[in-house]
Amino acid sequence: MIIKPMVRNNICINSHPSGCAAVVRRQIQYIRDTLVSGKDSAAARAAAPPGCPRLVLVIGCSTGYGLASRISAAFGYGAATVGLSFEKPASESKPGTPGYYNNRTFDAEAAKAGLPFKTLDGDAFSDAMKAETIKAVKELAAGAKIPAQIDLVIYSLASPVRTDPKTGVMYKSVIKPIGKSYSGKTIDMMTGKFITAGAEPATEEEIQNTVKVMGGEDWELWMAALKDAGVLAPAARTLAYTYIGPELSWAIYKNGTIGRAKEDLERAAKAINKKYGGPDGSGVHAWISVNKALVTRASAVIPIIPFYVSCLFKVMKEMGLHEGCIEQIVRLYRDRLYSLEGAANPAKVPVDGEGRIRIDDREMREDVQKAVLDRMDSATEETIFSAADVEGFKHDFLEAHGFDVAGVNYDADVDPASIK
Ligand SMILES: NC(=O)c1ccc[n+]([C@@H]2O[C@H](COP(=O)([O-])OP(=O)(O)OC[C@H]3O[C@@H](n4cnc5c(N)ncnc54)[C@H](O)[C@@H]3O)[C@@H](O)[C@H]2O)c1
Repeated sequence: MIIKPMVRNNICINSHPSGCAAVVRRQIQYIRDTLVSGKDSAAARAAAPPGCPRLVLVIGCSTGYGLASRISAAFGYGAATVGLSFEKPASESKPGTPGYYNNRTFDAEAAKAGLPFKTLDGDAFSDAMKAETIKAVKELAAGAKIPAQIDLVIYSLASPVRTDPKTGVMYKSVIKPIGKSYSGKTIDMMTGKFITAGAEPATEEEIQNTVKVMGGEDWELWMAALKDAGVLAPAARTLAYTYIGPELSWAIYKNGTIGRAKEDLERAAKAINKKYGGPDGSGVHAWISVNKALVTRASAVIPIIPFYVSCLFKVMKEMGLHEGCIEQIVRLYRDRLYSLEGAANPAKVPVDGEGRIRIDDREMREDVQKAVLDRMDSATEETIFSAADVEGFKHDFLEAHGFDVAGVNYDADVDPASIK
């Protein structure tokens, strides 16, 4: 079949297998060139600084930051990886989700490079999936002849719903302001036209439900399950990702329902450190990493984000500071978590006053933010394509679904079940 993008209201409802595969392969190449120049697993392991991870679990491994985290650990440090995500496979007549193709490409490339891996599909919030993951970790370690001791857990879920495993109740998250309604200018990325996006204030129940879905409870349940099963290394490291962003987005993000959930994630990091961290700093270490705003499947539907991010990309590209998911994770691993000092001693991992790792430092630079605000103030529909990087935003959005990828022939007939 010929597959062209189907985009409605900043949501893309299909994906392209060859395009997704090409993007994953490009990320792998970037890691081979940048993080550790290992051509295969043995070379990567040999070149990785002491203290780098050997067995990594990525919860939410198929797209965005989770995928980049998995690729970097595997192809950068030669780590064995277990990845878990929730995807729809392709059928003969319909493409699968982008993450389905990404995972298959990761698996094929990891196999070629001799990297141990297991990729699981299912609901990360469920007890059954936690048990299945633990079983997979043990099997993978046995096959690779390494201890079944996970030394890095990446928690990178972005989900609209969660079923509580204890009660069976399903909770839905919402992106809403708290206290008063929100209205802000954003753009339709396909046309560059301004639209006003608004949201009514969340009810108390909606706030609590969003915390239940996107907060830290499930991360804590994962850490407890891994510890109880004896598959967590004594000094394992674990990370969950958050976003803070500029004040102009706070009404809808940081001070809204998602921000509440992210506060709960920070609470969970402290709770994990208290519960599993040794008194002498020898135990488990949990961090929140504050990442840069990027175009992933979910971010295009948050009011203001397409407008802000288009202006941000323009400014950061002009200043030579632009990064995507994979560049962000390289800095996270190489300059923070596994810097020579940080790899040897977790207390030496650079953090802010709240104990968070910051890789949003370039986005939040004063000169960057000032330039972005100036653009946002002055842009009109006539100037938007030169003032802001609408094309770049649209490109990244399409690319996250395997479209608009250089070198892919979109007029060719493709089998949706193949990732050639
Ligand atoms: N995108 C950004 O701009 C940005 C910026 C900073 C921080 N973050 C944070 O990074 C994290 C990841 O976001 P992203 O943008 O990479 O998201 P994404 O949508 O690209 O990836 C989410 C992952 O979660 C998986 N997933 C969702 N529900 C699941 C379930 N029930 N069971 C198993 N897997 C499930 C998906 O399959 C996918 O692998 C989030 O915490 C997000 O808040 C994102």
